[in-house]
Amino acid sequence: MKNLSEAMNWRYSTKAFDPNKKISEADFQHLKNILRLSPSSVNIQPWHFVIADDKSGKSRVARGTEGSYEFNMPKVIDASHVIVFCSRIYADDSFLDEVLDKEDIDGRFAKPDLKEQMHQGRKMFLETRRYDQKDESHWLIEQVYLNMGALLLGAATLGIDAVPMEGVDLKALDEEFALRAKGYTAVGIVSLGYRCEDDFNANLPKSRLSEEVIITKA
Ligand SMILES: Cc1cc2nc3c(=O)[nH]c(=O)nc-3n(C[C@H](O)[C@H](O)[C@H](O)COP(=O)(O)O)c2cc1C
Repeated sequence: MKNLSEAMNWRYSTKAFDPNKKISEADFQHLKNILRLSPSSVNIQPWHFVIADDKSGKSRVARGTEGSYEFNMPKVIDASHVIVFCSRIYADDSFLDEVLDKEDIDGRFAKPDLKEQMHQGRKMFLETRRYDQKDESHWLIEQVYLNMGALLLGAATLGIDAVPMEGVDLKALDEEFALRAKGYTAVGIVSLGYRCEDDFNANLPKSRLSEEVIITKA
């Protein structure tokens, strides 16, 4: 287990995976825990994950890398696991109730009026984005990206290589997994596994804007 700075320095976007190396079930369970435990605004949890962990699953995900995105195809085929990050298209009333009821079951509300308060608070945030800013689906996707960030860091702490990919045909993935009919749409994918010894990207130095550029003291 690496500390956070070590993990962030160690991780890089893996361009070539060793097709013979598999993430253990125990390690992958840690990654699934991250997918569940990731925070989201008002605990909205607007995500779903399609996970490919074998040849046939990966070849289905690889349909999203046909055409313009072929450069990403080997990263899907050779990885140990591939996760399709999906976002809810809308947070409709029945989904809001599902989240609220789960919070209730999980013991979040000591009194019934706290449950109602939570519901109203969540609706306030949602309706600001839905009606005032008119970007509900964008807000939901923002939460999914937070989850992706958590997963990348978590994988690195476990010594698991990963590459996030937006270079995929999201419409093709929606079709392949019939996501839209289930209220979801694909946002991006993350391949996970272990780097190939000759991955050119593994030995390149990191390039990041300096602290002075990106941080200002208030
Ligand atoms: C949301 C997101 C989408 C990305 N999409 C791709 C992609 O489609 N293919 C790829 O090879 N790398 C992709 N990358 C990797 C970035 O190019 C990489 O994270 C960045 O250059 C920083 O390098 P590092 O991850 O090696 O530290 C993506 C990264 C992020 C965060």
